[in-house]
Amino acid sequence: MKLQSTLVFSNELPPVKKLGEEILLIYDQILAQKSPSFGKWAKGISLKYPVKAGEHLKDIEQFPRHIKAITKLTEQTSVKKLTVVVVGGGSVGDFGGFVASILKRGVRLINIPSTWLAAIDSAHGGKTALNVGGAKNQIGTFYPADQIIMVRTVLMAQPEARAFEGFGELIKISLIEGGKLWSSLAKEKQINSKTLWKYLEAAVHAKYKVVAKDPHEKKGIRHVLNLGHTIGHVLESHYELPHGIAINYGLNFALRFSVQKKVMKPAEASRLFGEPVMGFLLSPLRDDLISVKSSDLAEYRRLLLSDKKKTKAATLRFVFVKKPGKTVIQEVTVDDLLIELCRQREEELHG
Ligand SMILES: NC(=O)c1ccc[n+]([C@@H]2O[C@H](COP(=O)([O-])OP(=O)(O)OC[C@H]3O[C@@H](n4cnc5c(N)ncnc54)[C@H](O)[C@@H]3O)[C@@H](O)[C@H]2O)c1
Ligand SMILES: [Zn+2]
Repeated sequence: MKLQSTLVFSNELPPVKKLGEEILLIYDQILAQKSPSFGKWAKGISLKYPVKAGEHLKDIEQFPRHIKAITKLTEQTSVKKLTVVVVGGGSVGDFGGFVASILKRGVRLINIPSTWLAAIDSAHGGKTALNVGGAKNQIGTFYPADQIIMVRTVLMAQPEARAFEGFGELIKISLIEGGKLWSSLAKEKQINSKTLWKYLEAAVHAKYKVVAKDPHEKKGIRHVLNLGHTIGHVLESHYELPHGIAINYGLNFALRFSVQKKVMKPAEASRLFGEPVMGFLLSPLRDDLISVKSSDLAEYRRLLLSDKKKTKAATLRFVFVKKPGKTVIQEVTVDDLLIELCRQREEELHG
């Protein structure tokens, strides 16, 4: 098994012949409608398994039905020659990657992400997953794709609003990486699909730098990739926000918490918050979207503790930012987080 995938950036979908001798295409069925070039390309592949994207696809209860159909479809193929090619967003990638890792005890995998979230984040790092009993990503494998192909026409087929969702993960990885990626993104005055494509390669390389230090998530190094995700996940669940929007809010929270905790110095904070790109960070509290009513706070507490012992003293490893390129992980209690949420709300209301 390869630890690092070969990365390809391309304008068009690759010629089918180049993908492998025998191909099983697992793809998001929406692509056939959204992208005419995809439909034409897929016609050249005989073994196909279209799926409906979403968490339902990752539900373990559904898996026996899928794997029976896929086993039947591939019964004449040889383990040595078969390549599973997955085209879709993160849910299809998690599902298809899992299938490839167990089908005939593991076959070659090529991933072609079709959402910005998948292209920037979920396709990379080798994690596959299924949900169990409604709880996300409870089982899975580490199974890096042999190749990951980022195709401009496939990604550009998404509605423009999705680019703003993808921005959440882009700004996250840029803050973790710092350096040229951050200094260049920081100056952007527009966020759209073109911006995402422009930074995609650098963003993906930045994620690999983190993953390479801890490929099987044994050393805790990959935890920095959770920047913005602690509060982000709570907001995603409670308000049913798209992941990228919730992460955008969560990043703003994490940066301001970093200042409050004195991890980030005031001079660094004014430099950072003065950058043009920071105008695209959402403020949950200013937007009046996030309530700090006691019933909501109780629900945030429950969500924050969902995988912890439900005691007040329970702590979480929170990712702070000292400056772009320098993150700091510190234990915080759930109460610290809730108090900070209320403090940021007061700051928004009264300056
Ligand atoms: N494995 C990992 O490391 C990792 C990391 C982060 C997230 N994830 C997983 O990723 C999933 C979320 O990813 P996602 O947002 O890409 O989800 P998704 O696969 O559900 O796609 C979101 C929506 O976009 C549609 N879509 C896909 N490609 C399109 C295109 N080109 N044009 C128009 N519409 C298109 C889909 O049909 C779907 O409705 C979650 O299940 C999450 O758990 C995995
Ligand atoms: Zn994320």
